[in-house]
Amino acid sequence: MDSILVTGNGPLSGQIPIAGAKNACLTLMPATLLSEEPLTLTNAPRLSDIKTMTALLQSLGAEVSALQDGQVIAMSSHSLTSHVADYDIVRKMRASNLVLGPLLARFGQAVVSLPGGCAIGARPMDLHVEGLEALGAEIELKDGYLHAKAPGGLKGAVHEMRFASVGATENIVMAATLAKGTTVLKNAAREPEIVDLVECLRKMGAQISGEGSSTIEIQGVDRLHGATHQVVTDRIELGTYMLAPAICGGEVELLGGRMRLVESFAAKLDAAGVSVAETDKGLKVTRKNGRVSSVDVVTEPFPGFPTDLQAQMMALMCIAEGTSVLEERIFENRFMHAPELVRMGANIEVHGGTATVTGVERLKGAPVMATDLRASVSLILAGLAAEGETVVSRVYHLDRGYEHVVRKLEGVGAKIERIKGQ
Ligand code: EPZ
Repeated sequence: MDSILVTGNGPLSGQIPIAGAKNACLTLMPATLLSEEPLTLTNAPRLSDIKTMTALLQSLGAEVSALQDGQVIAMSSHSLTSHVADYDIVRKMRASNLVLGPLLARFGQAVVSLPGGCAIGARPMDLHVEGLEALGAEIELKDGYLHAKAPGGLKGAVHEMRFASVGATENIVMAATLAKGTTVLKNAAREPEIVDLVECLRKMGAQISGEGSSTIEIQGVDRLHGATHQVVTDRIELGTYMLAPAICGGEVELLGGRMRLVESFAAKLDAAGVSVAETDKGLKVTRKNGRVSSVDVVTEPFPGFPTDLQAQMMALMCIAEGTSVLEERIFENRFMHAPELVRMGANIEVHGGTATVTGVERLKGAPVMATDLRASVSLILAGLAAEGETVVSRVYHLDRGYEHVVRKLEGVGAKIERIKGQ
């Protein structure tokens, strides 16, 4: 397994291009199942999760080809051969469950493995099931698989979700596009990735309104046609790299970044003494003066502070002046980066869903282990600011969500290299 060697090397400067959003692409790709006509995505990120979703769609009989070095994904599900999403693929990537709604809508049946737990939590699918059952689906759990059917087709309904789940919102909205009648989804998730999905579905002929608010209304149509759609910028990659000049000092411009994608995160950085300014090319980030100050963080559904940036923000708080309390309210076990940061000299106490970080002058490089996608990049951020060398192992986690990390950080002066595993 490869690892990444980072050596603290002082302030950064330059530009980092931000790629298309992994979590938008992973819901846009299954949308191809809703139509017989081709769906093409541009500005797609080159990530292992995209390869996993490609393999899943191909296992269903869809044609999926990556063009222009993976930045364009051309798909067609004209003639599907299966409606079963196998455990082998779904266990690797929970987002595979996003074929459930589209398969049900198009074919009236789907068999999707439960994803199983992952490092950050149990991550059940009850909210997906409740929403699809509200549309008339009959779903039962058998041998670890959800067996779903809607023999007479799905019917529009009014449904309020108990929690604003991102994936459940995506599955229900995609299913409702081909249901008979109107669906009103209440307490819907508001993430930019959902807005991006709806914009793509609308290009395919779907009748949807309210995306980005807590109530989304969908008028079912008989069929959807093909489209070409540009994947929205990845706000989590954006936020991650905004933290690089914050933790190291210097000034970095994030190309393609837009404030509307990271408002609550940028406000937290501002409160911590880091300025974020919109330029015509993106966002420019630099410390206001000297040391960063501690701020408290609570993760919430969008537009609140993103849970996917909690680990990265903790790395910054490790060297901030004062004490920061980070409360993780979305996942039940998302502090596995904390003990690794403590190995680097951080002062962190974790009690349940709350981590208390008392800033230290400087972290010290050490061998550390990535445990999940966002934890892995928080260790790299810490290594950028630490004294000496940090070796982050198990970087396959990183490859799931960050393309060309070494090249992007080297480009702004970081001392970082990838070491091939044995
Ligand atoms: C999406 O996951 C993202 N993944 C996650 O990003 C992100 O952390 C999460 O949304 C929250 O923003 C993709 O978009 C592919 P949820 P999802 O359904 O849809 C519980 C990353 O790092 N829940 O909003 O699975 C669940 O256990 C990944 O890129 C239920 O209880 O998130 C969790 O505690 C990690 N029942 C909370 O809701 C359900 O049926 C949020 O889950 C569904 C979810």
